[in-house]
Amino acid sequence: MATGLSEGTEALGRGGGPLGPEAAAQLPAPPTVPLPSAIQLLRYRRRQIEFVFRARRELGDVFAMRTGDPAAEVMTGHPEDAARLLTAPPEQAHSTAGESPVRPIIGPSSVLTAIGDRHLRQRKLLLPHFHGEAIGRYTEAIAAATEREISSWPLNQPFPLAPRMQGITLDVIMAGIFGIEGRPRRGTVEQRLRATTRRMVELTTKPAGQLVELMNARSPEPVGLSRPLLRILERPFDQMIEQRRRAGDLAERRDILSLLLGARTEGGETLTAEEVRAELLALVLAGHETTANSLAWTWERLLRNPAAHERLRDAVRGEGDGDAVVEQTILEAMRSRPVVPLTGRRVQVPWQLGPYAVPAGTGILVSILLVHHREDLYPEPFEFRPQRWAERKPRGGEWLAFGGGIRRCLGASLAMAQQRVVLEAMARRLDLECDDPAPERALHRNITMIPARGGRVIVRCRR
Ligand code: HEM
Repeated sequence: MATGLSEGTEALGRGGGPLGPEAAAQLPAPPTVPLPSAIQLLRYRRRQIEFVFRARRELGDVFAMRTGDPAAEVMTGHPEDAARLLTAPPEQAHSTAGESPVRPIIGPSSVLTAIGDRHLRQRKLLLPHFHGEAIGRYTEAIAAATEREISSWPLNQPFPLAPRMQGITLDVIMAGIFGIEGRPRRGTVEQRLRATTRRMVELTTKPAGQLVELMNARSPEPVGLSRPLLRILERPFDQMIEQRRRAGDLAERRDILSLLLGARTEGGETLTAEEVRAELLALVLAGHETTANSLAWTWERLLRNPAAHERLRDAVRGEGDGDAVVEQTILEAMRSRPVVPLTGRRVQVPWQLGPYAVPAGTGILVSILLVHHREDLYPEPFEFRPQRWAERKPRGGEWLAFGGGIRRCLGASLAMAQQRVVLEAMARRLDLECDDPAPERALHRNITMIPARGGRVIVRCRR
């Protein structure tokens, strides 16, 4: 599947990319959203969908914002800007993930938040474990976790899918990271780590958790209540690291924790416990909630679009090309409800965005949501239509659910594998309905966009 960006960039017609200072001075700055800064911050964080679509309607594809967030100075919803920014080398435009709301939780040194050489080194170390053969090894764990989970769901009673999907995706990522098979046994550190992660993630959907997040919004370090809360999350990770260090069979183990404990920096040093913990936290947090909510959104959309639901069910129950329809359904769900709706780069040189220019140092956000809802790329973009993917492939700059370039999602293959297995099994085994025909609102949590009611469903029948 072509989801990288390079194949889309050669045909770019609109002006854009790095500029010399003189050329930059000839072009105007993008128009600014005409609202007081505090209101912009609140709307951007709480009602991002309304905020970005309104700004595009009133100001066009590129606009400047005053949210007080230095990573969110300018936003673009144009596919050519997206392709150029995401494929630029880091010395021209580097990722702003290290300035995002994940930074106070994960810190600056993980593959998600680091920039420059450190990022490249960590990415090179981890990537083979999330690709090719490694994914084949995960598939069994995914299928087993899915069967276990589906079999425990209540019949004829509404419940939110997201936490149930999280049960599956957390088991899978823990299998890869810690080398645990199946669900961890009670009383073990692994089980404590799993339970604490679930509790913390759940807390972030509650008003108190959202308040803590807002307090952290402009701080690179955790502030206020988040410090002791984070310690609760970090403790079982530290215990796992300590336990594994003492185990003595590191060289034979294939899990990621063992890999990190054996890894050396260019200077020949091992990673500190804090660095290993940051990496594990990044992978666990980036790697399970996103996939779980993407699946919850997929069902939220399917259950409100009966034709697409029926087409999927028929295909996986033997009346069509099941694999192709599953793939199309995932691509369309990730287009219409991208769980990560934004990704950012800070340009290191003056940069052209169509008719505008911004100075070196500007934090630019690519709105994945806006790119995915363009009439010129996706006719009737607000319709959920998986069959639009029967005739096309996701192209560079146009389908951005996993970002792109050297910061493209490290877990994209794993996330796709999980979604394929879970979606197929659910469509084959379950007759599902929604409890309310109204679409679920989007809730913005940290850097993600999730269904506000968790993707509530009713299982009418299980095969
Ligand atoms: C449906 C599920 C997922 C979605 C929608 C998603 C989306 C994204 C996006 C948009 C980015 C930023 C890319 C950019 O800035 O160009 C990203 C980065 C990342 N994702 Fe995912 N992701 C998902 C699942 C996963 C999984 C399963 C893992 C597990 C390993 C993971 C680990 C990461 C990491 C480590 C990065 C940072 C990569 C880097 O900066 O080099 N993600 N993801």
